[in-house]
Amino acid sequence: MKMSIEIIGTGRAVPPRKVSNDELAAQIDTTDEWIRSHTGIGNRHIADESVACSDLAAEAAINAMAMAAGYSGDDPAEIKRAAAEVAPTIDMIILATATADYYGTPSTACIVQDKIGAKNAAAMDITAGCTGFVYGLETAAGLLCVSPNRKRAIVIGAELLSKMMNWDDRSTCVLFGDGAGAVVVEKIGDCCQGKTGILQSLLFADGSGADSLVMKRGGTRAPYKKGETVDTPICVEMNGQEVYNFAVGAISDTLKALKEAGNFNFEDVAWIVPHQANARIVKAARMRLRIPEEKFYMNIEEYANTSSATIPIALDEMNRKGQLKKGDLVLTVGFGGGLTYGGNIIIW
Ligand code: UT7
Repeated sequence: MKMSIEIIGTGRAVPPRKVSNDELAAQIDTTDEWIRSHTGIGNRHIADESVACSDLAAEAAINAMAMAAGYSGDDPAEIKRAAAEVAPTIDMIILATATADYYGTPSTACIVQDKIGAKNAAAMDITAGCTGFVYGLETAAGLLCVSPNRKRAIVIGAELLSKMMNWDDRSTCVLFGDGAGAVVVEKIGDCCQGKTGILQSLLFADGSGADSLVMKRGGTRAPYKKGETVDTPICVEMNGQEVYNFAVGAISDTLKALKEAGNFNFEDVAWIVPHQANARIVKAARMRLRIPEEKFYMNIEEYANTSSATIPIALDEMNRKGQLKKGDLVLTVGFGGGLTYGGNIIIW
């Protein structure tokens, strides 16, 4: 029996505090001009001290569940009520993050499961860097397909990157921001004959590049030792140029591979939703493939790089603005730490 895996709700949660490049430049040796011209970033949103990954993830999931229940407005009481209707019907929560609430255990997905009242859902985190949401959608699709007992999943990308920055390293700290995005996906029987929803995903990895984007401390490779004086937090360390070169190839190779796998032309595509680490990376890839600029949905100016949250935040923005029409061919394309890369083919 053919079935389809449809996205039936989207949501996002972005901390209200917006920090401009100029605000950062007042504290760090950088300028608005450097950040904009090298990356396209103008702002990032930064969570308060008390906020953890699961807080943003749960808020995004609740917004997505409310939409799945038919409510797309912004009245908090209605959102809560509508989301509570859907919560017990969720069979699985898959949360992609590089900035979990806790190291190792429990998973942030389990904390979210409790926060959103999805008491019938299994829950797990996945680690696939900025490609996490792309991996998560495929994981959800696969797990829904293989079991007749699972019908609905929530896939979340959520990051609190501001807490994992070395704020003395200007070459990385200006690039990242906080946020979360989520989708509710549902398995629909044979009525759609597998022609809508998440059609296909391509997932790739190249572990030989593991060192170029890494949080070195705190794991079993470099655990903290008793008596050690620690003056650097666990933080993202990145070889920017290595990742840049990899990323341009990863986007263009993935888009080409998606086109071949899905047997379409780029003219047929309504939207490409890329991971946004640097607007120059996306531009270089689209020039290589000669795809018009207007097919790419960009919001890096507002949010900076929110890693696994970038693509679901973008999907929710587009969806709520009415930019995604039923039947649209939408491609996601991600790349990031691991190194990982890949994309999803979705008929909206
Ligand atoms: O989502 C995960 C994937 N992450 C990425 O995809 C990031 C990929 N890499 C990049 O986007 C770019 O390589 C960066 C934005 C990180 C860096 O841009 P770049 O054009 O490669 O700059 P650079 O590293 O070659 O640095 C050029 C100069 C250096 O100064 P000197 O040595 O030429 O005097 C840096 O010290 O820019 C300096 N610089 C800065 N200046 C002002 C580096 N960071 C800053 C800064 N403000 N924030």
